[in-house]
Amino acid sequence: MENETLLVLPRDIKFKISKNYPKYWFNGSAIKTIHANTLTSSIPFGERFFVSCVLPHIKKLKNRTQKRNALNFAKQEINHSKEHYRFYLKLVKPHYPKLKVKNYLYQKIFAVIAVLVGSKIRLAMVAAMEHFTAVSGDLYLRHPELLEGLDDNIKMLWQWHFIEEIEHKAVAFDIFHDSGGNYIQRVIGFFLSAFFLSMGFASYYFHMVCYDKLYKSKQFYIDTYQFFWGKHGLIKRLVIPYLRYLLPRFHPNQYSHFEQLTQLSNELMEIDRQLKEKYKAVEIS
Ligand SMILES: [Fe+2]
Ligand SMILES: [Fe+2]
Repeated sequence: MENETLLVLPRDIKFKISKNYPKYWFNGSAIKTIHANTLTSSIPFGERFFVSCVLPHIKKLKNRTQKRNALNFAKQEINHSKEHYRFYLKLVKPHYPKLKVKNYLYQKIFAVIAVLVGSKIRLAMVAAMEHFTAVSGDLYLRHPELLEGLDDNIKMLWQWHFIEEIEHKAVAFDIFHDSGGNYIQRVIGFFLSAFFLSMGFASYYFHMVCYDKLYKSKQFYIDTYQFFWGKHGLIKRLVIPYLRYLLPRFHPNQYSHFEQLTQLSNELMEIDRQLKEKYKAVEIS
């Protein structure tokens, strides 16, 4: 483990997400909303898979900090899963009644493959998926304009999740290496994860695009290209950080900025405290 001082801290925050947001709650943008809806709908299944892969290894850990971080990683992921499921029920499901969070074909294939490949590759897949989420979270935290215009509660939920993803990004990676995982297994885990994440993403994304008949509009294709591959496109900005994972000497903590993370975390807790006071005052009056 390269960084023994990093602490993983679960923050069980309940975000006040109501049903009163417009369908395209992300600044009125269909692409941004469907992209975020896709993430939020796939998170409950994904996070539970991460926890189920890491939990069996926790009791074998000898280092106390690593053990505590691994347990807190599991708590963080369970909290994320719960909050995103609530978000899905309030902001996604009412507009896309046939959209599910589980029982997709890709999830069934994924479950079979995950069993067949064995626990080492499963861990490698989790480590790679944690890399994808941490790198994406890092981009959003470094570029607050990406969440500009969002309602405070929604923005806080995403920031909270991004912060905790960055905080625990090395947990599965370290467990994988400490349990004897090698570079070849890490690379296999990376490509399997990338494949299944893409399948999952496509399942949700195109479900919503088809439901809204967006594919009929030429503007949809232009906006999609701009959002993902344009000058400041999401994938364009993420592809190099994603691929760094394949460097033989890569470790997630090589690309950390813990001071910024601590500051953001403190700000988040302060906003949460203020919100709780605000809601308490409303309930009393
Ligand atoms: Fe998470
Ligand atoms: Fe995570």
